[in-house]
Amino acid sequence: MSLALAEHKKEDRDQQVPAIIAALGPKSIVLIGLMGAGKTAVGKRLAAKLDLPFVDADKEIEEAAGQSITEIFAEHGEAYFRQGERKVIARLLEAGPQVLATGGGAYMIEETRATIRQRGISIWLRAELPVLLHRVRKRNHRPLLIGRDNEQVMRNLMAERYPIYAEADITVESRDVPHEFIVADTAEALIRWLECEAKAAGAKGRGKGE
Ligand code: S3P
Repeated sequence: MSLALAEHKKEDRDQQVPAIIAALGPKSIVLIGLMGAGKTAVGKRLAAKLDLPFVDADKEIEEAAGQSITEIFAEHGEAYFRQGERKVIARLLEAGPQVLATGGGAYMIEETRATIRQRGISIWLRAELPVLLHRVRKRNHRPLLIGRDNEQVMRNLMAERYPIYAEADITVESRDVPHEFIVADTAEALIRWLECEAKAAGAKGRGKGE
């Protein structure tokens, strides 16, 4: 690639940030996807790139409960955790713009999906089983996986959740590459989506004016 073209590409990328921020308004960028999809790692880097606050819903749930997620599951059960998760995400989405990483089960709750639709732009970090398994096996802190056949659990969750995750505004393929690549893909997908939305809104406005 010639230097001029490389420079041009870099300029395009630099222009992305103000364009994304302007088009985003008060909406949050909400990352969804299975355990191991890279929501936190990508979310943190995306927030830094866009100079937006990064918020991790699971961390906020732990702070609100004064317990780790593993302790909440063990002491109170999954239903109690889901209740807290729903409330905390509703509260977090009152603020914006921000990058919000949600736990893998959050988007499965109808009410949470509706709030995300209203106040955010959802991005599904989609990953294939081997990528997910490789990542979740590195740490052993997830209550849905502890003491279970990780591969079977993840297969079941993919079957159950992927059709719902597919309702997200944007899908980005999370691969086994440095996180920066996925951040770049996400920013590009976001800008394309925001442009389409702006065009659709413009066409609607013109239609009304006729
Ligand atoms: C869960 C995913 C976890 C955490 C909890 C339940 C799930 O978050 O919210 O253990 O139901 O998939 P991550 O997706 O960030 O690991």
